[in-house]
Amino acid sequence: PRTYLVTGAASGIGAATTALLREQGHTVLAADLEDGDIRADLATAEGRAALAARARELTGGRLDAVVACAGLARFDPLTVRVNHFGAVATLDGVRPLLAAGSHPRALVVGSVDAVHPTDPAIVAAADAGDEPAAAAAARAAVDRGEGHLVYSSSKAAVSRWVRRAAPGDAWAGAGIALNAVAPGVVLTPLTRPLLDDPATRTLVERAVPMPLHGHARPEQLAPLVAWLTSPENSHVTGQIVFADGGADAVLRGDRA
Ligand code: NAI
Repeated sequence: PRTYLVTGAASGIGAATTALLREQGHTVLAADLEDGDIRADLATAEGRAALAARARELTGGRLDAVVACAGLARFDPLTVRVNHFGAVATLDGVRPLLAAGSHPRALVVGSVDAVHPTDPAIVAAADAGDEPAAAAAARAAVDRGEGHLVYSSSKAAVSRWVRRAAPGDAWAGAGIALNAVAPGVVLTPLTRPLLDDPATRTLVERAVPMPLHGHARPEQLAPLVAWLTSPENSHVTGQIVFADGGADAVLRGDRA
C-alpha cells in the first residue's frame, strides 16, 4: 500500500480518485477547503504552507504520490490563484516528502480547455511565478468581458509548468514522474450549472466535442490518475494526457 495526498478530495474527480485509491488499499490524505484530513485554502500562502506542514506531520515525512485536483472555474482571479499557483505550491510543497517516498509520482488535473484561446498576460505572469501580476491580468480580463479566458489560461499555465518542470533535477532527477491529466467535460458540481442551462450547455458542447462516450463521470477519470501515479508508470513524465473523449483530436487533430 502507498500513501497519497489528494487535494480537492471532497468532490468530483478528487473524490472519485480518493475512493478508488482507498478501494485499492492505499492510504489517502484527503485535503479540501472545509473537509477531510487536511483543511486548507489553496488560494492563500497560509493555506499552502499549512497543507505542506500538515502532510509532513501526518506522513512522518514520506509520501509516495500527490494528486492536485483542487480547482474552480469562476470568472475571477481566484481561478488562477487556485488552479495554477495553488497546484504548483501543492506539488512543490510536498516534493521533499515525495523524494523520501517509494516510486514517487505527482499529478495535476489540467483541462482540454488549455488548448482553447488564453490570455497571454495571465499565462506570461504565471510562467514568471508572479501571482499578483497574474491576478491583476485575470481581473483585467474579467473587466473587459473575457472572464472565460481566466480558466483556460490557468490550465494552460499549469500544463506548461508540468512540461517545464518534469524533466528537471527536482522531479525526473529525483525519480519523480510528474504529469497532468486533461479531461474534457466531467459531470461534477463544477460543470453542473453550465450543463443545466440550455444556452451554456450548447456553448460547452460546441467548445468541447466528445465523440467517444460523451461527457465523463468522475469515476471514469480516476483509473488513469491512479495508473499515472502508480509504480507501474515508470516512463510517462512531462505529459499532458488528454482523457477527453476525443475533444483534443477534434480541436487540433492536425498537430502531431
Ligand atoms: P469539483 O468542484 O467537484 O471539485 C473541486 C474541489 O476543489 C472542491 O471540493 C473544492 O472545495 C476544492 N477547492 C476549490 N477551491 C479550493 C481552494 N481554494 N482550496 C482547496 N480546495 C479547493 O470539481 P471537479 O470537476 O472535480 O474538478 C477537479 C479538477 O478537475 C479541477 O482542477 C478542474 O478544473 C478540473 N477539471 C474539471 C473538469 C470538469 O468538466 N468537471 C474538466 C477539466 C478539468
